[in-house]
Amino acid sequence: MPLLRILHYPDPVLKKMAVPVDCFDDKLRQLAADMAETMYAAPGVGLAAPQVGVSQRLIVLDCSGKEEEPQLVTAVNPRIVSREGELCDEEGCLSVPGYYARVDRAAKVVVDFLDLDGKAQQIECEGLWAVAFQHELDHLDGILFVDHLSPLKKGLFRKKYQRILQQQEEQL
Ligand code: NI
Repeated sequence: MPLLRILHYPDPVLKKMAVPVDCFDDKLRQLAADMAETMYAAPGVGLAAPQVGVSQRLIVLDCSGKEEEPQLVTAVNPRIVSREGELCDEEGCLSVPGYYARVDRAAKVVVDFLDLDGKAQQIECEGLWAVAFQHELDHLDGILFVDHLSPLKKGLFRKKYQRILQQQEEQL
């Protein structure tokens, strides 16, 4: 299976509202499998379809620790149905390489979604898993973690990110 190319900010696809998945076919399964492989290879703990140029509501996540068994979750048309508590932790994003910042999130979430067979599922989670779900669901609405920063921090991000992009171009 080929690794997919991950789009980087400011690619316009990342700002688009993704459409719900309505066809649970082999094409969807293949996309989900390729996204999981791409996420593990990056490596990352989550990847949303818009990040690989597909503007559909599909995410893959695996926040299991290094010592744990892998725990891949593939969520189609996910929806957060309940949020509780507060958590502020450092986040990064495969579409915003080299930049990390703290973001305010809910500490606990309940997520309704469909699996690859179109069957309804629900996950209740906290900590890193809860943050990852919120981060990946944001991607489906065209929101990046840096969009949550204060105007001051966002200004600093833009300057720093410009330098990161320049350095990457020089390395190519
Ligand atoms: Ni991300």
